[in-house]
Amino acid sequence: MSKKVLVLATSFLDSLVSHPAKEGQAKKMLDELAENSNGEIEIIYRCERNPEEPLRVEEFENITAVIADLEKYDRKLLSQVGVKAGGSLELIARYGIGYSSVDIKAATDYGVMVTNCPGCNALPTAEWTHSTILDVAGRRISLYRTASQGKPKEGPSRLDISGKTLGIIGTGLIGKLVLKLMKGYETKVIAYDLYPDKNWANENNVEYINMNELCQTADIITLHAAATETIITREQIDLMKQTTILVNCARGILVDYQAAYNAVKERKIWGYGVDEIWQDKSLPLEGLNIIVSSHVGSDTDKGKIGMQIMSTQAVVDFMKGKTPQYIVRLLQNKELGKKEEAK
Ligand SMILES: NC(=O)c1ccc[n+]([C@@H]2O[C@H](COP(=O)([O-])OP(=O)(O)OC[C@H]3O[C@@H](n4cnc5c(N)ncnc54)[C@H](O)[C@@H]3O)[C@@H](O)[C@H]2O)c1
Repeated sequence: MSKKVLVLATSFLDSLVSHPAKEGQAKKMLDELAENSNGEIEIIYRCERNPEEPLRVEEFENITAVIADLEKYDRKLLSQVGVKAGGSLELIARYGIGYSSVDIKAATDYGVMVTNCPGCNALPTAEWTHSTILDVAGRRISLYRTASQGKPKEGPSRLDISGKTLGIIGTGLIGKLVLKLMKGYETKVIAYDLYPDKNWANENNVEYINMNELCQTADIITLHAAATETIITREQIDLMKQTTILVNCARGILVDYQAAYNAVKERKIWGYGVDEIWQDKSLPLEGLNIIVSSHVGSDTDKGKIGMQIMSTQAVVDFMKGKTPQYIVRLLQNKELGKKEEAK
């Protein structure tokens, strides 16, 4: 029986406007894999599948590897489709960096390897973060609403960025690139990370401090931690200033959105920018300095090329019996995306 690779990443086959020469490169890699397998490997594209829809066990019949978007792989599903549970699934190649949509512990328990694509879309996401910081500082959405309705400006003036204190939570690839892009503003930079990079801090005049101190001190707080739980709760938000700009272009879950909403509404912080769809209809955004976007940080041609080729490379390596380069492993009961040199 042939082994099947399922492609669920929604933008896997998208056209590339600014890098047309790279268009279809990942698909070619999969085509070659199938062609050279004497009919043993089959590729199935279901890119139109909505990642919000819960996965069903039947979708994984004879599927060995999946190129996964943000659909949820929870313990219940993995306990039915994983190879150690009598299913066929052996590899989830995440199409992106984050893997909060996959229960890594359950994947490990049921014999499913998980890979990700560190760095593939870091620059586009840093650019989006930069623009979100400026838009929250400038109350751009509120100003757009009034101006587009032919009305004069309302509310307080814009906030300056230059010379302020920038607080970066999570100083991995994206956090570092955000600092690089923000250098022209001559901000003082403070940071928090579970694993501080002291060399980088010395070279860039960055001071690592603890999270609560950062929340108290920073004027602009930007989140880039690869965490899978809420790390900015009401307690941290209560420490912030009335003029704090809070931006989360990592994962929605990192911030207690209800606490952020209330703080903006009650004018306890300046504004909140988050690169996630706002799901809670009971908290209307109209008139508030809260900017949301539909997780588009990496959604540029450059970001897509990176995700397409890196996730595909993981599948090709795995199907050829090689160890993929970027495996998400459990470390002291915490998941960390670690660069693994292929052995
Ligand atoms: N908006 C988007 O479209 C988009 C695109 C790409 C990545 N992301 C998200 O951006 C985040 C960062 O990506 P990256 O490529 O810079 O990752 P990275 O692995 O290079 O860096 C993440 C950093 O977070 C730190 N960290 C992990 N848990 C932490 C915690 N609880 N508190 C403080 N620091 C912690 C790690 O030590 C590491 O330095 C990820 O959450 C990823 O999912 C979003």
